[in-house]
Amino acid sequence: VQEKRYDVTEELQIVDQSIIDLLKKAGRLADELGYNLYIVGGFVRDLLLERINLDLDLVVEGEGIEFAKTLAHKLNGDLDIYRDFGTAVVDLDNVKLDIATTRIEYYPYTASLPEVEPGSIQQDLFRRDFTINALAIQLNPTAFGQLVDYFNGKKDLEAGVIHLLHNFSLYDDPTRIFRAFRFASRYGYQFYEETERLIKQAIDLDTIEKLSPNRLFGKLKHGLQDENPTSFIRLLVKYDILVYFSDSLVWNQVKEKLVKQVDKIIGWAMKKEQNIEFTPWILYLMTLLEHFTKEEVEKFSKKFNLNSQLKSRIKTSLEIEQIITKLKQAERNSEVYYTLEGLKIEELLFILVKDFSLTEKISLFLEELKEVEIKVSGKDIIDLGYQPGPYFKQILKEVKRAKLDGKIDSTPEEHQFLEKCLQRR
Ligand code: CTP
Repeated sequence: VQEKRYDVTEELQIVDQSIIDLLKKAGRLADELGYNLYIVGGFVRDLLLERINLDLDLVVEGEGIEFAKTLAHKLNGDLDIYRDFGTAVVDLDNVKLDIATTRIEYYPYTASLPEVEPGSIQQDLFRRDFTINALAIQLNPTAFGQLVDYFNGKKDLEAGVIHLLHNFSLYDDPTRIFRAFRFASRYGYQFYEETERLIKQAIDLDTIEKLSPNRLFGKLKHGLQDENPTSFIRLLVKYDILVYFSDSLVWNQVKEKLVKQVDKIIGWAMKKEQNIEFTPWILYLMTLLEHFTKEEVEKFSKKFNLNSQLKSRIKTSLEIEQIITKLKQAERNSEVYYTLEGLKIEELLFILVKDFSLTEKISLFLEELKEVEIKVSGKDIIDLGYQPGPYFKQILKEVKRAKLDGKIDSTPEEHQFLEKCLQRR
């Protein structure tokens, strides 16, 4: 293996000066202690792609924890030490540094936690998943800004190739299959031929079965939260991975269309002037599962230990057709309101995933109807001399309906209308 070095000080200029100063300080301290210090992983990969990634993963050829202690002391930062893993986190005002000793990893069995022992920077880079993630930038003063590349990561980044570093990588850690899909989707990269073969082989040998349901679901979620969930899902389909989540998870033309629709609706919602806060990845999950029966949802939720919020979104997606039918028939504002009342934002957006022709009604609800409130209350009815009872709720609903439909507007009008309703009763 040949070490290649490139000067990337120019590339580093896109990074905030305060971060550069911090990295330089760390580099000087490493020199004082006689260690080599590097920044590795996502920061380096993304820097070469002219992207800012503030995951600051530092590795020390030396005593990582000692280095972290001294650095935290010098910079007045908080320090957390994870002795079992030989790592530490230095928390500064607005950034945190993950610090580890350069190491070798052994996986006693598939998907286990690795056993680690100190190693060189080269070994530390080799234990990683893909060549594009096995790049380091040295931080010691005399070598500051030198990209250290043993495995042609720079070349693969430029060529847009996801390339596994070694043949056992996916047996050691099958979650890397999902990482491969995530990076390929995010950057629009291809798999190196041999890597694709290894991915297929690892899948054929059922390595994914070795992941606990929690980890497995975590990887799905992570992919759906990344930059290109549609492409990520297509890779899950292409490599036949959906089945590990549920036997009922089928893929077809309808789903393909719906997923594209999700992209469109997310774009639509983000462009709205009014700030709509929602969790986009849930829309993809709802789409994947929307054809499930109640029993299948129960089974899925139980297997992956879904929280009640997530479970309830998925359940609503099963009932979406009825809601849509009702919404289509709704003519008056109040009918729109009472069809959509109580639905969560992801559920409202999912209606549009299924039927984009309903945008006007959904917008009307989000922008106007949702905010409508009446001023009159049960107290006003009592003040008029009526005995409290369940009919209060109905009467107030009638007032609200009139307000939603624009029959009344001001507070005096509400009062008048309230009295009229009571008399009629
Ligand atoms: N890594 C690995 N195998 C894994 C997870 C991580 O080899 N299963 C290595 C990679 O070298 C990666 C680094 O650890 O670059 C840091 O991992 P992490 O922060 O999880 O990922 P990033 O590569 O930074 O990716 P992202 O941009 O998605 O955070």
